[in-house]
Amino acid sequence: MDIRGIDTPLLDWTGDTLALGLFEDAMELTGILQELDEKLSGTLRELIEEIEFEGKPNNSAVNRIGSNSPIRKVILVGLGKTEDLSLDVVRLGAATISRLAKQAKVKTLGINLPVVNDDVASTVNAITQGIILSLHQDKRFKSEPDKNGLKLERVEILGCGKNEKAINQANILCSGVILARELVAAPANSVTPVTFAEIAQTIAKDHELDIEILDREKCEDLGMGAFLGVAQASDFPPNFIHLTYKPSETPQKKLAIVGKSLTFDSGGLNLKGAGSSIETMKMDMGGGAATLGAAKVIGQLKPDVEVHFICAVTENMISGCAMHPGDILTASNGKTIEVNNTDAEGRLTLADALVFAEKLGVDAIVDLATLTGACIVALGDNIAGLWSTDKILAAQLREAGSVAGENFWEMPLEEKYFEGLKSPIADIKNTGPRAGGAITAALFLKQFIKKTPWAHLDIAGPVWLDKENGVNNSGATGFPVRTLVNWVLNQ
Ligand code: BES
Ligand code: MN
Ligand code: ZN
Repeated sequence: MDIRGIDTPLLDWTGDTLALGLFEDAMELTGILQELDEKLSGTLRELIEEIEFEGKPNNSAVNRIGSNSPIRKVILVGLGKTEDLSLDVVRLGAATISRLAKQAKVKTLGINLPVVNDDVASTVNAITQGIILSLHQDKRFKSEPDKNGLKLERVEILGCGKNEKAINQANILCSGVILARELVAAPANSVTPVTFAEIAQTIAKDHELDIEILDREKCEDLGMGAFLGVAQASDFPPNFIHLTYKPSETPQKKLAIVGKSLTFDSGGLNLKGAGSSIETMKMDMGGGAATLGAAKVIGQLKPDVEVHFICAVTENMISGCAMHPGDILTASNGKTIEVNNTDAEGRLTLADALVFAEKLGVDAIVDLATLTGACIVALGDNIAGLWSTDKILAAQLREAGSVAGENFWEMPLEEKYFEGLKSPIADIKNTGPRAGGAITAALFLKQFIKKTPWAHLDIAGPVWLDKENGVNNSGATGFPVRTLVNWVLNQ
């Protein structure tokens, strides 16, 4: 499928299907829309009246036009109120249009959506994202080819000029989102600590990033007892991945992105029981998947910032040499941890990864993790939790998320709750009381950061959707690759 921007005026466009966005407070067909309606023998007006199309955000319609027309079908999507127009509105509009065009077996599609804040490049970028991300479907594990595959051959974005650069950038961004989706969706017998590391190596090679992979022995040398404690019951060797993007000129800023990378989380000896969705725990490397997705994009967009991508990859399994509940581990900063619950394993792997990241001397560290069920209870699956020791960093991430159309809600690092992590025998326990579980998890991580501005994103909800939503189809979303990339580019 080819996506391009074209200069052809709306009235002169010919092709299979023309898609238009309409605002709910500007539903009268005036000006160019009136001319278009006349050209289409009044079909637009008829369609709007017939289905009582109101231009509200979820409204949409498809209609066949008489056979003499230069356009075979028209698609309408509602954009909501003019004053609420944003990049997310056009991104979602493009997604709705693309899904309808797919259903209607459209081959060539023209999309006419408004420009947001006079920013043509960002508008075209967002529209392209909406098209690609809503149409992506993962058929890798089906043995038969898809009979209902996409017929769409060409999409033309009208009214924004050629804008090859914006379309190209969106394509690159989406390749990172799709990589993350495919890593998350692949089962744990496909994405293992070994294959995950191989994929990181491929990214490094393809996009000229430096890569260092620490095996168990090297992790032992660095004293990563927390990470290795989690890894000790897996038949796969753990891999600690460190990818580095270095710009050609001396960078003003150095950043680290750290992703929780459990290719499967059985819970360990605190085994996940019925009702705890053990069968979905292939998604527990969602943070690492988005980290690699972001690395793939940053390696191609080549911003003026140095970025370190870190994934401590393993499984959380059971065996005769599994961690016992109650074991005490020593992390690489010397802190001792009483493992009162082996299912709170993500924070153990992240502890050593955060210590490693801080030693790199970066200006900011962001970790992303499918860390707690408690965060899903608090915020649902549309919103990720955001904790930060630094107001500026938190604001940067919120802004990057809002431009990306990914939702974050800032949560408190309530020091009082640290009481719940005190251990009678070690420095800390890995699990506090049930109440405020997402907050104590964040407080646990904070113990492994000394002074670098740090933010923690609990993405347990948004990495996976049971139902199609926005640009995402059901299943893996690739959250929050778009936010991470925006954050890096805006430095
Ligand atoms: N990977 C899970 C968190 C999770 C749960 C992600 C559901 C996605 C969907 C994490 O390792 C975990 O098991 N957390 C426990 C922590 C508890 C033992 C303190 C949880 O949330 O129940
Ligand atoms: Mn767990
Ligand atoms: Zn987990």
